[in-house]
Amino acid sequence: MAVLRRPLAICDVNRSRAARFGVQCQAYVEVATLSTTAEKGQGMTPTKPTSAAGETRRDTLTIVDNRNGRQYEIPIKHDTIRAMDLRPIKIHESDFGMMNYDPAFSNTASCISKITFIDGDKGILRYRGYSIEELSEKSTYPETAYLILHGELPTQSQLKEWTYHITHHTFIHESIKKFLDGFHYDAHPMGMLISTVAALSTFYPDAKDIFNPESRRKQTYRLIGKMPTLAAFAYRHSLGMPYVYPDNDLSYSGNFLNMLFRTTELQYHPNPTLERALDILFILHADHEQNCSSTAMRGVGSSHVDPYSATAAATAALYGPLHGGANEQVLRMLLEIGAVNNVPAYIKRVKAGEKLLMGFGHRVYKNYDPRARIVKRIAYEVFDVMGRNPLIDIALECERIALEDEYFVTRRLYPNVDFYTGLIYQAMGFPVTMFPVLFAIPRTSGWIAQWEEMLLDAEQKISRPRQIYLGYDLRSYIPLDHRK
Ligand code: CMC
Repeated sequence: MAVLRRPLAICDVNRSRAARFGVQCQAYVEVATLSTTAEKGQGMTPTKPTSAAGETRRDTLTIVDNRNGRQYEIPIKHDTIRAMDLRPIKIHESDFGMMNYDPAFSNTASCISKITFIDGDKGILRYRGYSIEELSEKSTYPETAYLILHGELPTQSQLKEWTYHITHHTFIHESIKKFLDGFHYDAHPMGMLISTVAALSTFYPDAKDIFNPESRRKQTYRLIGKMPTLAAFAYRHSLGMPYVYPDNDLSYSGNFLNMLFRTTELQYHPNPTLERALDILFILHADHEQNCSSTAMRGVGSSHVDPYSATAAATAALYGPLHGGANEQVLRMLLEIGAVNNVPAYIKRVKAGEKLLMGFGHRVYKNYDPRARIVKRIAYEVFDVMGRNPLIDIALECERIALEDEYFVTRRLYPNVDFYTGLIYQAMGFPVTMFPVLFAIPRTSGWIAQWEEMLLDAEQKISRPRQIYLGYDLRSYIPLDHRK
């Protein structure tokens, strides 16, 4: 049989009626003979060539390597093939074998998860099967965090116990204040948060016991309880104001507002509308499956480091302007645009590739981000209490133009969660630098759930991607005086 020097042809998804692909399959008759060791891919089986007629449905994918005419049949499960099943595809026995190249993991599933479901085309987000719309209407952040971490909504007594433990882990070691004091007055609060979360690992060496469920539970209480305190202390430090200690009689979001904004009053009474708005925003940000920061949490956690160090890494990933730092950048962008009638000129620059329209676009959502819809509604509730943020008109004009413009329509760029959150945060009195911090606090529950799921998944190992090496081949060292 002639060896065909053509690219690899994915011959047929054998689940569908094969007739339209059958002719191509018939061109190759050599059958791959492969052993089925783990290294070569568990699921790969040598296969006989398929025929066009009378093919029955099989959950496999047939691949033809046109470099040598070999044909491979790979199992399909959950609409996915295992990358390791490609490894046996090789010309010579000594070859490394086939890999898939996927920079930025655009089409790679790195795990099996039961936490969060997103359908980006339909604009659907669910935690453990519950829609984000229903949770934001009926749940609270502590309850949603419980759901995300435990898989089920808590009973009354479970919620009571959970809330008790979270509330009783809000205090931080006094020495953390000394770290904060070392930061410059204008230090970005995300930098302070990343550093102080990492520092928690030094206070809780028991956190290294990551395969002990009791230890994991304890660190979960601590992380969810202490993140708002670290964030609020960072904020107070930047203002040069004394730190406000947690008030265990307040709700999770109410206590956070207390630690941020309390001045001379003996007891802080949060405004109920703002307290609930913040609680809903926390629900909306609690998890978002395998985003950049969750991937950092899983990747760093896969080395079996303690959860505080992994959370510091995840917080750092969130800080970037393409991820959780986008809310800060949206506000800076709206300020730069300055007036509604400047929007068309700004959009022109975006289309010319000079700028990004911050708060627009998403790797997964190719439809309106369902969180953005809810945020937009809450914005008006907050404005009713705090006064209308004039930047909303600029934001609405950006959205109006973008949703009609061919550039955004063809690329399926819609507002994401960060587009309107900054307007709410600003109306509530937060400085822009605090915006990513307000994302990090609730996302902590999602990070821990992702981390724990990774740890308990028997298939997971230390994260270690491959590369395609295109650098120099072996060359001889050149002595310094011979170099040009
Ligand atoms: N403004 C203008 N053009 C954009 C934007 C934007 N915000 N986002 C994507 N595009 C263009 C991009 O240039 C590309 O154009 P072309 O095909 O001509 O090269 C096309 O749309 C496809 O974009 P992409 O770069 O393949 O998209 P991605 O999946 O790599 O990036 C993203 C996703 C969120 C990083 C990106 O949309 C972006 O930078 N948005 C602005 C930052 C932002 O709002 N981030 C918050 C995301 S939601 C919160 C979170 O969960 O992190």
